[in-house]
Amino acid sequence: MKAIVVKDQAAGKAGMQLVERPEPQAAINDVIVQVHASAITGDELTWPSTWIDRAGRDRTPSIPGHELAGIVTSLGYGTTGLSIGQRVFGLTDWYRDGTLAEYVAVEARNLAPLPSDVDFTVGAALVMPGLTAWQGLFDHGRLRAGQTVLVHGAAGVVGSMATQLARAAGAYVIGTGRANGRQTALDFGAQAYVDLENEKLQDVGGVDLVFDVFGGDIANQSASLIRSGGTLVTIAGPIEARPANGSTIDFVVEAIPSQLSEIVQRLREGRLRANIGNTSVLNDAVATLNSTHRINGKTIIRVRP
Ligand SMILES: NC(=O)c1ccc[n+]([C@@H]2O[C@H](COP(=O)([O-])OP(=O)(O)OC[C@H]3O[C@@H](n4cnc5c(N)ncnc54)[C@H](OP(=O)(O)O)[C@@H]3O)[C@@H](O)[C@H]2O)c1
Repeated sequence: MKAIVVKDQAAGKAGMQLVERPEPQAAINDVIVQVHASAITGDELTWPSTWIDRAGRDRTPSIPGHELAGIVTSLGYGTTGLSIGQRVFGLTDWYRDGTLAEYVAVEARNLAPLPSDVDFTVGAALVMPGLTAWQGLFDHGRLRAGQTVLVHGAAGVVGSMATQLARAAGAYVIGTGRANGRQTALDFGAQAYVDLENEKLQDVGGVDLVFDVFGGDIANQSASLIRSGGTLVTIAGPIEARPANGSTIDFVVEAIPSQLSEIVQRLREGRLRANIGNTSVLNDAVATLNSTHRINGKTIIRVRP
């Protein structure tokens, strides 16, 4: 099969190569998915899991990309819950070969059914931002109606999803980002916006929850805005910032199929939209993913155009 591999950590995305690889075999409780649409998270090639296995051994050449939508083509020993020919979408294990390939082996428990009226491109685009935003807001942030949430990077892939989900939950949403992200964030449902390059974050007043995608100084400043009992949730890795009377949680997204099903249902009902910036095909994916031209929104690789 055709797949994109990486072998050289120092080279980053520039080291991506389109090669022929053996098709994966389904292990116990796996399925094999014929990938129709795939996506990669921006800084995935900096994560240790791209380069080593769970025992710390070199696992290169590895296939990156862990977001997918596709069709189940075979079942591993003992696999239940999914059937051959079923449309699915989900997130694959960080430590296994990923989805920038024609086929991928993935644990069935990581996948949800993709309804027939949802395009593979859209399905793949929902996976990472949908799960990350849902878990950050509701599982970790315990967001409730009437609360105020500060969503950093609200025009971005994860931030635009967090903005939509928080609004739908009845929260007041203040987005942040660059000046040119204002209109996008407002279009996704933010009720106020702070241009972090020209305006003062401190002027927003108190908030119940911060959904952080940046870490660093912005996360530090945000901690002081959090009301008593509130939470700073970050997806930017471990941070020092702590609210005076609240908690900080950093987390890595998990594959939770029931959440994917809820998210795709909202999309079908017109209550949610995917933030897709660009689409390409597997043959052009190395060039597309290495482009220096900045495109807002998720880049989706159509593996079967
Ligand atoms: N822990 C997890 O489970 C998890 C899951 C998903 C993503 N992540 C991480 O979360 C981060 C965000 O991902 P994403 O896909 O949402 O990225 P993204 O689409 O690039 O969104 C980031 C947004 O913030 C803006 N921005 C970036 N730097 C800024 C700055 N210094 N000041 C103001 N605005 C700034 C960007 O504007 P421009 O486009 O103009 O730069 C963009 O609108 C990434 O680091 C990703 O790896 C973590």
